[in-house]
Amino acid sequence: MKKFLLALSVMIMSTVPCAAQGDITLPTVNTSDKLSVMDALNQRHSSRKFVDKKLTSAQLSKILWAANGTNRPDGKRTVPVALGVYSVEVYAVTKEGIYLYDVENHKLKLIAEGDFRSITTTGQSFVSKAALNLVYVETPAVWTNARHATSREAQISFANITVGAMIQSVALAAETEGLGNCVRGSINHDEFKKVAKLADDKNILLAQTVGYIK
Ligand SMILES: Cc1cc2nc3c(=O)[nH]c(=O)nc-3n(C[C@H](O)[C@H](O)[C@H](O)COP(=O)(O)O)c2cc1C
Repeated sequence: MKKFLLALSVMIMSTVPCAAQGDITLPTVNTSDKLSVMDALNQRHSSRKFVDKKLTSAQLSKILWAANGTNRPDGKRTVPVALGVYSVEVYAVTKEGIYLYDVENHKLKLIAEGDFRSITTTGQSFVSKAALNLVYVETPAVWTNARHATSREAQISFANITVGAMIQSVALAAETEGLGNCVRGSINHDEFKKVAKLADDKNILLAQTVGYIK
């Protein structure tokens, strides 16, 4: 009975909308889906009409894990990187706030409380309606520990290649949940940098909207 109640509470926790304040502990990702990878690829497309409806914590977990989650005991992830250097961080912008995806702990760390979805765009109105906007940010400082010296040009190129993998992972994961997505280069860089308290050396590379389709 005790076990049943515990299992029931875990199920309920993963289907209710996420808490409004503080860090968000994401539930363990569910990697079993009815939709095949090939079907998800067949359905992938950009959506630009969304409804303002929160994702469940299970959906948030799935999207963030697809973008940059750990999928092996050695800490390697769902996306490939050059020279083993993970130089791209993922920020999650929801109605509640701006969060940094803490990969090791599979958690969203609150950076700024409030609805800042509109500052992840330069004017596309659907962005403010969708539940989630991901912002992919390069962190050049991590290259100091790389096993080979690399030019700055190569580092940026490597980061962009990883972001390419991230956006496709997210697009496919979104399809498995019946959610829409749109990759976006149009980002208000200055505002986002300020509000998300990004260090000067960090570079915003791309954004991606995810949410329920109208
Ligand atoms: C690097 C990149 C930047 C993009 N920027 C935007 C954008 O700022 N706004 C937007 O609505 N779509 C943007 N898109 C989405 C493309 O417009 C879209 O993928 C393209 O029209 C093909 O349509 P599909 O994704 O439905 O196949 C971007 C796509 C990529 C890969």
